Amino acid sequence: MGKKLKRLLINKLKEKIPSNLLQLIPAHYFLIDKTVILTLHEKLIPWEKEIGNAILELFPYVRTVARKVGPFEGVKKQPQIRIIAGEEQTEIIHKENKVYFKFDFTKIEFSKGNKSERMRIAKAVKPNETLVDMFAGIGYFSIPIAVYSNVKKIYAIDINPIAIHYLKENARINKVSHKIIPILSDCRKVANELQGIADRVIMGYIPFSRNFLGAAFKFFKTKGVLHWHETFHKTELWEKPINLIKEEAEKYGYRVNSIPYKKIVKSYAPKIYHVVIDVEVEKL
Ligand SMILES: C[S@@+](CC[C@H](N)C(=O)[O-])C[C@H]1O[C@@H](n2cnc3c(N)ncnc32)[C@H](O)[C@@H]1O
Repeated sequence: MGKKLKRLLINKLKEKIPSNLLQLIPAHYFLIDKTVILTLHEKLIPWEKEIGNAILELFPYVRTVARKVGPFEGVKKQPQIRIIAGEEQTEIIHKENKVYFKFDFTKIEFSKGNKSERMRIAKAVKPNETLVDMFAGIGYFSIPIAVYSNVKKIYAIDINPIAIHYLKENARINKVSHKIIPILSDCRKVANELQGIADRVIMGYIPFSRNFLGAAFKFFKTKGVLHWHETFHKTELWEKPINLIKEEAEKYGYRVNSIPYKKIVKSYAPKIYHVVIDVEVEKL
């Protein structure tokens, strides 16, 4: 989808929408399973149904068209999305790298932009490791890791009961329930109860996951690998995150042995990047 779809839609809608508004029809759409999610310019909102129906007619495999009505809300990152055309079906199954993710797109955030990162981490895990996924959501990282590695156990924590419901469901449909321990709680609380258990810790939460680094270090055995997702301004890369992680590690009794990988995952806001940094740490 893109400019071509915009042209097709303009063509289909030129009799139904005032001509001065046609150029406001968006060129970018988010397609997940059989659902299209779009953002509309406020001037187009009175014609949302016509736009939704035009998409359904152009793409017979699309069952539902929904519109973002606001930003993600709160720490649970609850989406604000409303169906504008098609079936009132909000629970979907997205397939990615032969892994199934079931979730309700009106209740759960899903970022397709993290696809290659999910696979990279899944392949980095070594046999028999114990993992902590501090912000597990519906299993964005935990499920592919359980499917593609010989991990011993993954403690998959999330504060949102809806996310934990789908995490359990995804573990079941991907046949990896025996490898995953879902925990409905605040990861900072769990860190006090499960100290010194992890070979690898995943922090897949942005922005401000830096506020949770203290909890992350509590989970580690004497040595481990941290996959740290965070947001930084373009000008801060990479000096600021590297200095910050070294300072934080020392504060919690660890040293950084190496940073074998760092990458911009995607753009988060103008000049602000979502980055991932792998950090090998060892107790001082
Ligand atoms: C939505 S995920 C991030 C998206 C994901 N990285 C992806 O690939 O699409 C972040 C999760 O962190 C959870 N969360 C936020 N604060 C938390 C906390 N203190 N403890 C545990 N989970 C938390 C939210 O409920 C949410 O499910």
